[in-house]
Amino acid sequence: MTDGIRTKRLLGKVVVVTGAAGGQGAAEVEALAREGARVIATDIAEAPGCRRLDVSNEEDWARLAAELRTEFGQVHGLINNAGIILRARVGEVAAEDFARVQAVNAAGPLLGIQNLAPLMPPGASVVNIGSAAALTGHYTVAYTASKWALRGLSKTAAMELGPRGIRVNTVLPGYIETEMTASALPAFHEANIRETPLGRTGTPDDIAPLVVFLLSDEASFITGAEIPVDGGLTAHGGVKSISDALRGDT
Ligand code: GCO
Repeated sequence: MTDGIRTKRLLGKVVVVTGAAGGQGAAEVEALAREGARVIATDIAEAPGCRRLDVSNEEDWARLAAELRTEFGQVHGLINNAGIILRARVGEVAAEDFARVQAVNAAGPLLGIQNLAPLMPPGASVVNIGSAAALTGHYTVAYTASKWALRGLSKTAAMELGPRGIRVNTVLPGYIETEMTASALPAFHEANIRETPLGRTGTPDDIAPLVVFLLSDEASFITGAEIPVDGGLTAHGGVKSISDALRGDT
């Protein structure tokens, strides 16, 4: 800070964001750019300002890595934000659909790390966008299993990339108002608010500032961490309804 002018925290950093066309991804792109990052926004959908990337496709990643090597030489950040939801329950989910969710939500981030880590200098940072579902037995089994897998990937990647000075952290959003959650039944929305101590759902702008922080040098000793951003949803371990039922009695 000099004379009230704050230095941008991500000035000069080249940062890749997947699933950047909407929801949390779009908010992350905006927040990262505001802090001076050179953001490479990617999405499977054709979208203004986004390069096309299917995170489950190895060739797409190889092409992106080659482009970035030529254009910038280095990549300082990767936000594995792209994800899909499948709300089938245990008894009804087809194995191939289960595998497809794994391919996008868990293997996608793996491919991103494999392809971009070779371009990362010491101080680089990977942020994997998990879910509160990865701390619980959430009812969407394929999605839940994929987000648990992503936690495992993050931990191992933090260990293996640590010696190169590359950090890997996981953000665990609770119910965030996006196109994805809007596709759930209203009862899901209401039940989430009931189980959330802060009594509201989150917005993409509740997630983006943490992503900026984890990318910045302020987080230089933080790796392998998992940070819920869920209004307290997972902190009570499912006991909120019991506490609420007894309110006033004790
Ligand atoms: C969904 C998902 C998401 C979140 C979950 C976290 O069905 O859209 O499950 O909503 O990941 O709510 O608590």
